[in-house]
Amino acid sequence: MGQESSRELSWGRDYLMVVPDHFRVEYRINPFMDLEDQPDPLTTRTQWDAIVAAITDAGGTVTVLDQRADAPDMVYAMNLGLPLAGPEPVAVVSHMRYPERRMESATATAWFTDHGFGVRTIGSDGIGAHFEAGDAFAWRGDLIVGYGPRTDRLALKHLAHDLDVRVHGVRIVHPGMYHLDLAFGPLDASRAIVCPDAFSSQDAARLLDLVPDPLVITEAEAMTFCANSIVIGRTVLMPACPDRVRLQLEAWGFSIVIVDVSEFLKGGGAIRCLTNPLDVTLGRDLMTGRGQVIATGSM
Ligand code: ARG
Repeated sequence: MGQESSRELSWGRDYLMVVPDHFRVEYRINPFMDLEDQPDPLTTRTQWDAIVAAITDAGGTVTVLDQRADAPDMVYAMNLGLPLAGPEPVAVVSHMRYPERRMESATATAWFTDHGFGVRTIGSDGIGAHFEAGDAFAWRGDLIVGYGPRTDRLALKHLAHDLDVRVHGVRIVHPGMYHLDLAFGPLDASRAIVCPDAFSSQDAARLLDLVPDPLVITEAEAMTFCANSIVIGRTVLMPACPDRVRLQLEAWGFSIVIVDVSEFLKGGGAIRCLTNPLDVTLGRDLMTGRGQVIATGSM
């Protein structure tokens, strides 16, 4: 598709965010967390406010949820669950890999229920499959789900069945890209940022096959968290943007807004992690009954 423009994403205007009143690094569940390097509370709040302002300036909206005092990572709202809008809104609440974050799901369940979402859970049925919503993206009517470091492969079956969608599973093998949203980021209807180094080579190829126009980034570029950006129409809100990535985004007609989120990088997350899109719809609205998992190897 080269330099022509492509349709904007049908989602990504309305976000849920968690006010960072109790954000700190209390344990180490990813390679970025260092108990000796704590976020400064005032800078944290200033940076969070700047994200809210940038979303609003770009034409988006933010709904806020208070942070539980006992859940320091709850600021990474993307992981609360996977909400799907439409005539019958549903939200799949995360069943976190690490017990340190599991209390967040009770608050997420209450919030989604209060806001009209039918709540689904994965893994709380005794089977124990973990699912973290930072591993799941709507893409061209289907779902792409990363598994390995956080989400279990078994969760993909539940997602496909419960949501009646096609799920493309991709195995994450890079410890620094422990959630899909650190290595993959939809930009518009045909373009997405992809870091192949995050995935098994077979699955990197499968993922690239799903994206007509990928913006392929290197491991070093991904470590700037540039894939962990959000897109509102043709505005990309990014924590950082390597020059090469900027050139391609601008050639495609995107405008780039950088928001410094240094304090949140200390917990291992950036702008995508801090925002949970509430306006995502999937092919399920077409009622095509396609619940199936497509992944490497047999499921
Ligand atoms: N400290 C959090 C964790 O390790 C960071 C979560 C980042 N969120 C994301 N969607 N990638 O769970």
